[in-house]
Amino acid sequence: MEIIKLENVNRIYSNNGAPYTALTDINLSISKQEFVVVSGKSGSGKTSLLNIIGTLDKPTSGLVSIFGDRISIKNKLALSYLRHQKFGFVFQVFNLIPALNSFENIEYPLILAGVNSENREERVQSVIDELELNDITSKKPYQLSSGQQQKIAIARAIVNQPEIILADEPTANLEPDSRNEIYRIFQKLNEERKICIILSTHDELAFPFAKRMINLENGLITIDKVN
Ligand SMILES: Nc1ncnc2c1ncn2[C@@H]1O[C@H](COP(=O)(O)OP(=O)(O)O)[C@@H](O)[C@H]1O
Ligand SMILES: [Mg+2]
Repeated sequence: MEIIKLENVNRIYSNNGAPYTALTDINLSISKQEFVVVSGKSGSGKTSLLNIIGTLDKPTSGLVSIFGDRISIKNKLALSYLRHQKFGFVFQVFNLIPALNSFENIEYPLILAGVNSENREERVQSVIDELELNDITSKKPYQLSSGQQQKIAIARAIVNQPEIILADEPTANLEPDSRNEIYRIFQKLNEERKICIILSTHDELAFPFAKRMINLENGLITIDKVN
């Protein structure tokens, strides 16, 4: 089942009035249960592409549909609702709240979503068990390694039970061992929870985890192949 569709998508930024084309004529169809690794050098357009898929940005031209819904006809509120319902975001920087411990950081999106405290506790604990984070739940971000912080950020991204995870260079700040650990977590979420994973990186360690590889060069898709 196709859940993401991009048709003839272009993204042109304006650099002090001078147009800069970051994405050129992107055509892409992504189904449920895919694990897509988007590779490409710095500046190739990975973030631009993920931002458009995640409805954080709109294309300059072309069509984007998420779960069959045309994005361009949605108003801001409907778009934000769709984003919170369907997507979990993981970034290179972890963006954890320094004053909150791990449990509270993971819980935070549920508070925003208005989930009552009993249900919150249950859902946070189930994610903690799933990702084996029990020994660090009471620690604050400054007491955690970078790899542990990213695991908390992933837990926070899945606590709302998204159907798609967009991970933009999630391992750029990590050592090889923790990079592999993070990829294994995404693999587990893909296989067990059937979450669609779209992960951008230039780390070759990630490539064996991909079910599908997409490579970008100067805003163009140069490779799109199933592993
Ligand atoms: N907001 C912006 N305004 C102008 N140019 C941008 C903006 N965002 C990205 N770019 C340019 O678009 C190109 C692609 O950027 P990006 O999608 O961030 O690539 P990547 O994530 O692969 O490093 C780069 O040349 C970048 O400098
Ligand atoms: Mg980027």
